[in-house]
Amino acid sequence: MNRMILYGSEYGTAQRYAEKMSQLTGIPVFSYSTAQDFAGCKLVVYFGGLYAGGVKGLKQTIKHLPTDIKLILATVGLADVTDEENLCNIRRSVRKQLPEHLWENTTLFHLRGGIDYSRLSFTHKTMMTLLYNKAKRLPEEKKTAEVRAMIETFNTKVDFVDLDALSPIVAAAQHAQQI
Ligand SMILES: Cc1cc2nc3c(=O)[nH]c(=O)nc-3n(C[C@H](O)[C@H](O)[C@H](O)COP(=O)(O)O)c2cc1C
Repeated sequence: MNRMILYGSEYGTAQRYAEKMSQLTGIPVFSYSTAQDFAGCKLVVYFGGLYAGGVKGLKQTIKHLPTDIKLILATVGLADVTDEENLCNIRRSVRKQLPEHLWENTTLFHLRGGIDYSRLSFTHKTMMTLLYNKAKRLPEEKKTAEVRAMIETFNTKVDFVDLDALSPIVAAAQHAQQI
């Protein structure tokens, strides 16, 4: 298999993007946890939910990737991806999660997911409650897009998934195939 779509998804939003991407491109799709054989693989398109800045499953996946692989990485988070400061924060954090050789072969995209507090695990709910209590005390000027998104959506259900946002990622995968 020379191309693969992988996803790291706890609550399904990254998985929805990955599965739609597979429908649009014909590239097979797997959860990161089941994919370990990358022999002959030249391109991985990875969709990962953001958890405290980390991309779910990315660390475990990287260990198995051939060094010359091309990676298209799409983060899926709650915060507004049109906010430049938010994008900078995500990019900085992703940069730290990738080894140099892989970073040079990576094209990054950022998508919006969603959250349903009634489905969160006890640990995640506790984490979000602690973050929320801290965040709401911050002065207005210190509230980043990430913090604002978290405050606005606390204890609710929101779905910002926009499958049309896959178009540039589909184009990038097609372009990568040609080179
Ligand atoms: C514990 C926790 C930490 C999170 N951290 C971030 C974050 O750092 N940045 C962000 O934009 N969204 C964050 N989110 C929101 C998730 O990224 C969002 O719900 C995403 O759609 C999850 O993807 P999934 O449904 O594929 O698991 C967090 C959510 C939880 C529950």
